[in-house]
Amino acid sequence: MAIREILTAPDLRLKQKSKPVEGPVTDAHRALMDDMLETMYAAPGIGLAAIQIGEPLRIIVMDIAKDGEAKAPRYFVNPEIVWTSEETAPYEEGCLSVPEIYDEVERPARVKLRYLNYAGEVVEEEAEGLFAVCIQHEMDHLEGVLFIDHLSRLKRENALRKLKKARKLAALEA
Ligand code: NI
Repeated sequence: MAIREILTAPDLRLKQKSKPVEGPVTDAHRALMDDMLETMYAAPGIGLAAIQIGEPLRIIVMDIAKDGEAKAPRYFVNPEIVWTSEETAPYEEGCLSVPEIYDEVERPARVKLRYLNYAGEVVEEEAEGLFAVCIQHEMDHLEGVLFIDHLSRLKRENALRKLKKARKLAALEA
């Protein structure tokens, strides 16, 4: 396992659409998922899409266990949302690729998912609460969409300006 570099906005690689994993889930995919999980834990974060470490594949890792609870890693290969509730819910989101920025996004409150797990088995399950927020946020990454893309233009531009300023400061200090 290895900790990989996390891409941050406005890196154009984050805007690309990720490709499905063709054929079975292999050890190479599992090695990528292991790296993604280690990178996510180190950040620390609760979800990560493969494109965030520069791999344009439809793979997501997540662990939404609370502080003090045992680790509960989840792996999603080629996830699809097969149903969404009409009811929506707001949640203050953040993203490892948009550091230091947090804002409220409104999404369907519940979704039904289909995906392949770490072993390559087909899983169908319903998500609500933080799980529903996180999987929708991560699946946006597979389409090249960041949570700030859901905000008003003014808020998005402010966020990007803040990011650029932080990056310039970091470069000066390096
Ligand atoms: Ni994100």
